[in-house]
Amino acid sequence: MEQKFFTIKFDEYSSADELPAEDRELVLAAREATGGSYAPFSKFNVGAAVRLADGTVIKGANQENAAFPSGLCAERVAMFYANASHPDVPVETLAVTAFQNGDFCSEPAAPCGACRQVMAEVQKRSGKKMRVILAGKDRIYVFPSVDSILPLIFNNLD
Ligand code: THU
Repeated sequence: MEQKFFTIKFDEYSSADELPAEDRELVLAAREATGGSYAPFSKFNVGAAVRLADGTVIKGANQENAAFPSGLCAERVAMFYANASHPDVPVETLAVTAFQNGDFCSEPAAPCGACRQVMAEVQKRSGKKMRVILAGKDRIYVFPSVDSILPLIFNNLD
């Protein structure tokens, strides 16, 4: 038996002002996207924005439903729309942020497992690593690829 470890390397910033310009713009787009959130049940407004390889920025927000499982997270709304409207353009970066009780959350919102699995598919389809930015007001994590937040990705079908 051998004990092994996964190491997750990422960059941490303490505000959006510290980010390189393109990433800052994407975080601002994700913040803007929270305005499109429909979350009457959780009152947790999530915004996501993706930057495509051609520079296009696409926004998404969580959409809830009285039949709870019928709703969809912000990340998947953004990624599915990006892939549906620009099927041949790789997705380079995804930024996520959340708004609750009248303010943006201080800490980064961690994407659910289903969103991470969709990120894995989007990245695979793109053929290049997709960066992931989880943006809180006081702490921002930047991961170099989906692999960092989803170790042991299921991709056994190829
Ligand atoms: N939600 C997202 O949109 N993204 C996440 O990463 C986590 C959760 C949404 C789903 C639901 O509308 C609300 O946040 C509370 O779970």
